[in-house]
Amino acid sequence: EAGFLTYDPGFMSTASCHSSITFIDGEQGILLYRGYPIEQLSAKASFLEVAYLLLYGELPNEKALAEFEQVIMRHTMLNENLKNFLNGFHYDAHPMAILIGVVGSLSAFYHDSLSINNVRHREISAHRLIAKVPTIAAAAYKHSIGEPIIYPRNDLRYCANFLHMMFATPCEEYRPSLLAERALNLLFILHADHEQNASTSTVRLAASSGANPFACIAAGIASLWGPAHGGANEAVIAMLTEIGEVKHIPKYIAKAKDKDDPFRLMGFGHRVYKNYDPRAKILREVCHQVLNELADANNPLFELAMRLEEIALSDDYFIERRLYPNVDFYSGIIYQALGIPRNMFTVMFAVARTVGWVAHWLEMMGDPDNRIGRPRQIYRGPGKRDYLPIWQR
Ligand code: SDX
Repeated sequence: EAGFLTYDPGFMSTASCHSSITFIDGEQGILLYRGYPIEQLSAKASFLEVAYLLLYGELPNEKALAEFEQVIMRHTMLNENLKNFLNGFHYDAHPMAILIGVVGSLSAFYHDSLSINNVRHREISAHRLIAKVPTIAAAAYKHSIGEPIIYPRNDLRYCANFLHMMFATPCEEYRPSLLAERALNLLFILHADHEQNASTSTVRLAASSGANPFACIAAGIASLWGPAHGGANEAVIAMLTEIGEVKHIPKYIAKAKDKDDPFRLMGFGHRVYKNYDPRAKILREVCHQVLNELADANNPLFELAMRLEEIALSDDYFIERRLYPNVDFYSGIIYQALGIPRNMFTVMFAVARTVGWVAHWLEMMGDPDNRIGRPRQIYRGPGKRDYLPIWQR
């Protein structure tokens, strides 16, 4: 039984390039967190329960979960000086730029007091990141709309607390609906970890040099921002908005197939899944439910997304290349229905993925054979040659 503070580093000891956290079978469309199917976890678990599983390798018993929730909720506040840093950003700074900067700056608050060579200090850093990233994310949003930062509350569950920090104001309390909280819980679980994706590999490479965890996670956030990765959820909504109507879909499918056109169908394809992304399958169902109960059931973007998926999946180009909708294809539509603005979609991805990044960081730091990563290259430059004085060039 995995106790809370008596976890066995053995759960995390693993050679670099190997991991015991997440398993993906791209051919079968299988995704397991520590052996548990994503379908079961997303339907039955809380996000902090899954966070505990990813960090410690086992589902928590009641006592361990209660202790874990308490520790996380007690560390959601930020150092008050961080407000000055945050307010230094221009009002229209992209929230991802703010998240990278402020998460990285946590190094300045904890770097001296926490040693990466101390197991307990590593756990404290992990808890602080999982606790504080949502507060920073919501603060970035408030900054971008010129509203005061809303402090976290210790009497709210993790997802409800995030929605409170996003939408409450000093003049008015915000009580998220149970459906909104459940939808966010599911979205966070689905985005929590995904094996050696680009941003997790970035975190692991930074961690291999011994950089402090706050700097490593800031590096992961930067990598996630790209439209080929976590930035895709924001790009999907931009694409659907640009397509506008079903009658324009064929034109965009043709652009996506045109080798000379850099346009790709956002939310489609995956380096590993050559079958339906299991997370997209789950989100497709949730989309229906959330839109029916939270927003207008015939949300034009969702209708368009369904038609785009139908047309693309009947086109030989996509069938031959096994390009299916991925996790980003539907997530933006649900975020929009929850009232999350488009420029916050990738921030939402980063809040959830912080748990996976932290789990990988702990796994690496718990590995006595952890060595600095050093990818090699295939050199394609000129052979050895001599310097020429400028008048001879
Ligand atoms: C995430 O790694 C992870 O696990 C990431 C992630 C996670 O949880 O961390 O799952 C999250 O990042 C999901 C992906 C989100 N990105 C997008 O939706 C952006 C659009 N997708 C593409 O950019 C692309 O599909 C990638 C980046 C996702 C994958 O790129 P690959 O591996 O280079 O794609 P591929 O090798 O499978 O491509 C095979 C062919 C190529 O054409 P050919 O050279 O064979 O003629 O399919 C084409 C590609 O050009 N192709 C697309 C396409 N994706 C691939 N053509 C049109 N539209 C697309 N979306």
